[in-house]
Amino acid sequence: MIEYRPLRIALLGAGSVGSQVAKILLENKKELALRVGAELELVGVLVRDKQSVRDYQIPTELLTTSPEALILGADIVIEVLGGIEPARTYILQALNSGSDVITANKALLANNGEELFEAAEQVGAQLYFEAAVAGAIPIIRPLRESLAGDKVRRIMGIVNGSTNYILDRMDSTGVSLKQAMEEATKLGYLEADPTLDIEGYDAAQKAAILASLAFHTEVPIDRVYREGISKITSEQIAAAKRDGYVIKLLAICEKISATETEPEGISVRVYPAMIPLEHPLASVRGAFNAVFVEAEAAGSLMFYGSGAGGLQTASAIMGDLVSAAKRHVAGGPGLADSAHADLPVLPISRVTTRYQITLAVSDQPGVLAQIASIFAEHGVSIETVEQSAKMIEAETTAWLEIGTHLATDLSLAAVVAALQSSSAVEEVTSVIRVEGE
Ligand code: HSE
Repeated sequence: MIEYRPLRIALLGAGSVGSQVAKILLENKKELALRVGAELELVGVLVRDKQSVRDYQIPTELLTTSPEALILGADIVIEVLGGIEPARTYILQALNSGSDVITANKALLANNGEELFEAAEQVGAQLYFEAAVAGAIPIIRPLRESLAGDKVRRIMGIVNGSTNYILDRMDSTGVSLKQAMEEATKLGYLEADPTLDIEGYDAAQKAAILASLAFHTEVPIDRVYREGISKITSEQIAAAKRDGYVIKLLAICEKISATETEPEGISVRVYPAMIPLEHPLASVRGAFNAVFVEAEAAGSLMFYGSGAGGLQTASAIMGDLVSAAKRHVAGGPGLADSAHADLPVLPISRVTTRYQITLAVSDQPGVLAQIASIFAEHGVSIETVEQSAKMIEAETTAWLEIGTHLATDLSLAAVVAALQSSSAVEEVTSVIRVEGE
């Protein structure tokens, strides 16, 4: 039975996500009212240009170019504009006036999350953001609610679909990075500024959001270590494949134990890494996303699905909208995140990982011993060595592919620097981390 007054929903933005949200709201109105216990009345849609052609033709009378009246008259505001401003100002206006806000804006949350959550707390409003990370995949709610009584140890995610598509094409068809990027561009997978995807900024924003929820700690975006995929070569992909690995751009959020001299903390990082073909994340193909969570009691969980797309992202927004609307109808405290743990975000040097290093060396007696001694000097143990050799103009060059055991990133980086300046080494041709073993 629907006894509650209609709830006024304002939609800020009518791009690929916004127009799908409007479509679902208008076409599923009756069903949604029954689920919520109140009608969800779309009172207006903020657009830049009322004449633009949209994926779904929103009735003209709902379109407006005046944000203030729309925001201040709403119970729930949905922000799908993207970017920092004016989204930040509009969300603050909405929260300060007591409205709940639903946003898909990962950049804004990663950069200004603290300010937004404080504003929400001041007035008892709620900020929902399921759509900000991994599109349609429910991962924010599981971290905020389902796993709230557990202790997350580590999250390893493929949270950027376009780079996963690019790496997957390189792996499955042997095309170059440039060719795969051209394909991704044609398919509309890349952001308007492709460096956001290629250089890992998009994944870093999502990693900051996931880590802050998982570890109850504020994670400023500038503390997220980031490397993109722009230096990944077809040769690295082929070599990984030969050895039973696949290269993926990973967002990793991890709790790191204290050492005798260093405190406990968390590491939040994004980089391309080799993962074994048997790892569940290795099977994430094309533009799909997946988040692999390891928790103390739950063990390993994997969340998989579409990480982008107008309709898919609209699904996550609609889930948040139903939650927010139900809270209006039934009352209750809503979701509350806490940064009580306040753990330090540690530098990459504290991370323990493995490296796969490929070197070109001259095929002379004693060269292997010289190289081995560099690893030994830095306390890094070699796990595997493979050698291949080729005669180039009377000189024989040998290629060494060296896999290490676990060591701190600090020691591994020192090994690479020493190899680069060693007279025994012609060139360090590839350095890549190995994860998921
Ligand atoms: N550029 C993003 C991606 C879109 O490739 O996953 C979704 O955030």
